[in-house]
Amino acid sequence: MHEFTFKGNELYCEDIKISAIAGRVPTPFYLYSYKTLLDHYRKLRLAFSAISPLICFSVKSNSNIAILRALVKNGAGLDIVSGGELYRARLAGADPKKIVYAGVGKRPDEIEDAINAGILFFNVESEEELDAIQRIAASLERRVNVAIRINPDVVPRTHSHIATGKGDTKFGLDFETVHKIFNSQWRYPNLNIRGVHIHIGSQIVDGDPFEEAIKKVLSFLKKYKIEVGHFNIGGGLGIIYSIENPQTAKNFAKRVLPILKRARLKIILEPGRFISGNSGILVTKVLYTKITPRNTFVIVDGGMSDLIRPSLYTAYHKIVPVKVKQDSAQTCEKVDVVGPICESGDYLGKDRFLPMMRKGDLLAVMGAGAYGFAMSSNYNSRPRAAEVMVMKGKVHIIRRQESYADLVRGESIPKELK
Ligand code: LLP
Repeated sequence: MHEFTFKGNELYCEDIKISAIAGRVPTPFYLYSYKTLLDHYRKLRLAFSAISPLICFSVKSNSNIAILRALVKNGAGLDIVSGGELYRARLAGADPKKIVYAGVGKRPDEIEDAINAGILFFNVESEEELDAIQRIAASLERRVNVAIRINPDVVPRTHSHIATGKGDTKFGLDFETVHKIFNSQWRYPNLNIRGVHIHIGSQIVDGDPFEEAIKKVLSFLKKYKIEVGHFNIGGGLGIIYSIENPQTAKNFAKRVLPILKRARLKIILEPGRFISGNSGILVTKVLYTKITPRNTFVIVDGGMSDLIRPSLYTAYHKIVPVKVKQDSAQTCEKVDVVGPICESGDYLGKDRFLPMMRKGDLLAVMGAGAYGFAMSSNYNSRPRAAEVMVMKGKVHIIRRQESYADLVRGESIPKELK
């Protein structure tokens, strides 16, 4: 469920007409519903209330500091993957004791910053990383909590680029190595190896791989009598983009709660998309239409630099007109919605049935709240889009559209070329 709905023939965000927002904010822009964001977070929290897990929102899915603040203010922790995300987490006022830090390539300076910040856990992905954290913790005279990321070698049915739990990916460590690490804890006097972590992939709509991975880890811990306090079961819950039928928070909890309860561990969840995905859309304007012998193109002002998921993963995002014209319902036509970028892969949707579009019409690209703005770029020297949040009847610009000056900030021409 989300708060982008038609009332009459106009698309609204909560109680506000999107066309009215587009009158004030230059397109393309990202638009978020605070209510939807919070609803999804609360749904998960409620479904798991029997074990009160720590829910660490995955910053990489949507890292705007207003979005982070909204969740943090309501009790969420954060899952980070870089020094930049730690910086954002702190600006959002996150409690460091609710921050977990994953990623296969943490730099020494990033590790040092996170130790100084006093985060809850490093989710460690290699033995060399463990050595690095030990070395840095010793030099700072600190003891640091770490969790070992296990690669449980399960096959999540999702796009290969976002499947992480298979044995052949770069993520986590195999059971044998993890066993070895727990047996050689004396090597790490400055580390408390107190947790295990998994994250098997993203946009996973079926519960089987989660259950399989959780069971594999728990039986491993039992078999080798490994004692840890925390089990981070990752993120990855899929959402509805088109015809998916993902497990709800309730069904997911029903399935894994009995297993987790028996384990008597403090559970951490780190969802991104489940919370932010359907909380945001991309609003874009039609610049031109073009009919060729083979296709009808609707050329819009948003492209792969704003939302790369269709180009990168052939991901499907529903596209709807922001205003449905009275006379247009019958005259739907098959079109490709494409952006202004000089690549044939630059599209937002192909073979879509849309009412006849005209210059100046607005389109909403749905389900763009996760990995939308966060993966946007300045390709083709396009300023990045504004981000707007509707909250309690008000419209807030939470990131202004970039300017041309923003595009070249930090660049310089050597004196010799002047
Ligand atoms: N935890 C870790 C360690 C992760 O790597 C990720 C996502 C998450 C949690 C959150 O996963 P989520 O709940 O959002 O599925 N750009 C891709 C998704 C990449 C996901 C990367 N890791 C996309 O647009 O589909």
